[in-house]
Amino acid sequence: MSTIAPLTVELADRAYPIHFSDSLNALKHDVAALRAAGRSIRVFSDAKVLAAQPDVLAQAGFEDTEILSLPSGEKTKSVEFFSQALSFLAGQSANRDCALFAFGGGVIGDLSGYVAASYLRGIDFYQIPTTLLSMVDSSVGGKTGINLPEGKNLVGAFWQPKAVYIETRLLETLPSREFAAGMAEVIKYGMLYDLDFFKELEQVNTLTASSPELAAIVRRCCAIKAEIVADDEKETAASGGRALLNLGHTFAHAIENVAGYGQYLHGEAVGIGLNLATQLSIELGQIDASDITRAKNLIERCGLPTVLKTPLPISGLMAAMQRDKKNRGGKLRFVSMQALGQAVTTDGVDAALVEALWKTVGAA
Ligand code: GLY
Repeated sequence: MSTIAPLTVELADRAYPIHFSDSLNALKHDVAALRAAGRSIRVFSDAKVLAAQPDVLAQAGFEDTEILSLPSGEKTKSVEFFSQALSFLAGQSANRDCALFAFGGGVIGDLSGYVAASYLRGIDFYQIPTTLLSMVDSSVGGKTGINLPEGKNLVGAFWQPKAVYIETRLLETLPSREFAAGMAEVIKYGMLYDLDFFKELEQVNTLTASSPELAAIVRRCCAIKAEIVADDEKETAASGGRALLNLGHTFAHAIENVAGYGQYLHGEAVGIGLNLATQLSIELGQIDASDITRAKNLIERCGLPTVLKTPLPISGLMAAMQRDKKNRGGKLRFVSMQALGQAVTTDGVDAALVEALWKTVGAA
């Protein structure tokens, strides 16, 4: 397999590397350096990951390290488990020199990052993503947090990791449903930023964990994300900027919230959200009507839904969208596409249009 060069997320004194080839050796090297510097180390993971990858941590030099094993699934991104994780560190008198490693998917990464941002007002943390979704999206960029019953990711902090170690061979044990969910975020990058990448994804027959092109695809996603994050780390741009990474997510977060966390994997909700964002862009006259077929074909070919499994109430979905963090001045803000491969933020979208869109995916 060819070597895939590391990337740097360019954030001045908080810049950090994303390793792709030989990542577990880079990890082992960094763990040894932390130990040599007298730093204490903790790992947060989940039971499923630890069972599926029993040797990775030992191989990377984590033997004798205290590991907090949390339940897998979106429900772990809650105030309850946040509190439990903080108590784990405090109960062991972990100091500010503690380095926290997140070994798992987006749930473990987001929770660990928020714990790292909060504990003793901030300790170092490192990401070892084990799902496609966390490799291409959540492990990079420093968005950390938990959900509230009122909405997804409503509490959190920007807290950048010190390094990200991506080893795509870990995906070989990932259930196919989870792999498909990660593909939603991969497709998202093509739709929002890179038409050529979108076309390449259309050409790939079926991408799996053992596809030779996978590592380069993951790197391409991380490169797009690193560039966008370096330009607008805290999503404060008046328009465009980091918010563009949320293409399809206003719809997706509403689905997850109304269906109940865990009913849809995040990427499954994003699949439906990408379909809706494409339809919205057509309704706004921004893209060609034929693009919906291209978008839906690719999303569905990757094993993702484009419509709801069972009807959800439009009133609840609209209320959930009102709590979206992108909204400004009480008005809904959407990410749409002014061309396939070129996303924009769009304000002042008519609520009646959004309600009509929800009906097309089976909301009632
Ligand atoms: N997942 C979107 C972001 O990190 O900004």
